[in-house]
Amino acid sequence: MSHSTIALRTGRRLPCLGLGTWKLTNDTAGAVEEALRIGYRMIDTAVDYGSQSGIGEGLRRSGAPRDDIFIVTKIEEDDVPLDAVRRDLDELGLDHADLTLIHRPPPGGAGEALWEGLILARESGLVRDIGVSNYTAGLVDELTVALGEAPVVNQVEWSPFGHSDHLQAHHQDRDIVLMAYSPLTRAERLGDAQLGQIAGRHGRTPAQVMIRWNLQRGTVPLPKANAARHIQENFAVFDFELSEDEMRRLDDMNEAWSALGSLAYQ
Ligand SMILES: NC(=O)c1ccc[n+]([C@@H]2O[C@H](COP(=O)([O-])OP(=O)(O)OC[C@H]3O[C@@H](n4cnc5c(N)ncnc54)[C@H](OP(=O)(O)O)[C@@H]3O)[C@@H](O)[C@H]2O)c1
Repeated sequence: MSHSTIALRTGRRLPCLGLGTWKLTNDTAGAVEEALRIGYRMIDTAVDYGSQSGIGEGLRRSGAPRDDIFIVTKIEEDDVPLDAVRRDLDELGLDHADLTLIHRPPPGGAGEALWEGLILARESGLVRDIGVSNYTAGLVDELTVALGEAPVVNQVEWSPFGHSDHLQAHHQDRDIVLMAYSPLTRAERLGDAQLGQIAGRHGRTPAQVMIRWNLQRGTVPLPKANAARHIQENFAVFDFELSEDEMRRLDDMNEAWSALGSLAYQ
């Protein structure tokens, strides 16, 4: 598998791997520039990550054509959608985002007003595609029924230690791409013995195995890395393959574990 792209229902394509940027605050611009140099083509951010202006600077410094890069932004549950989209674009120094998500469902609802706002932002040309994050299957359906349009992406916490076949099957049926956040378990489970065994067999690292597991499941991992060696390591995943047996073993590690406290979709 090469650094390929995945089709969105709307016809646009999404890189199969992206750079996460929560707390990517140590020379953000330099880290982003390095990631783009290596070949990353998607960057995930949000206003509370502290990385948006540095990402913009890194993009400009890299000289990469804007159309080659896929930028994911998010609006917060208490935001006025159009204002928030413009705020984020201002910080990034961009005129559009490729994908904008509702960061999490607002308390007690599916976020119909936020979704309506994102539809408007797309109609205004400020964002190309729209989706959600931290949504259950039920909330995705509620939103879809209310506005007549399903999100193209649901971004959720996802690793061998915490994932859901039910959610993935639900999204596959509706042509919704599942994006995996905290795919490296925030480095908390990298020392797992079984993971280490599989990694050792391939001469790879546990982080590379968890990224590869996502790629082979068709889910889109967003590993965050500030250290240059991590940025490089996490992209060096297109020249090996996990066997069916190894994939099954990784699937079976599921214990609904979460680095953030609990899996938002369960
Ligand atoms: N939608 C949401 O609600 C939501 C929530 C959480 C996260 N996210 C997104 O998903 C991204 C990734 O999730 P995350 O930041 O929570 O955690 P993560 O990507 O699972 O883990 C990041 C941690 O792993 C370390 N690391 C990276 N590559 C490594 C490697 N090859 N070997 C050893 N350690 C390595 C990083 O260190 P260094 O940084 O020091 O290199 C950092 O401490 C976020 O940055 C954000 O973009 C979205």
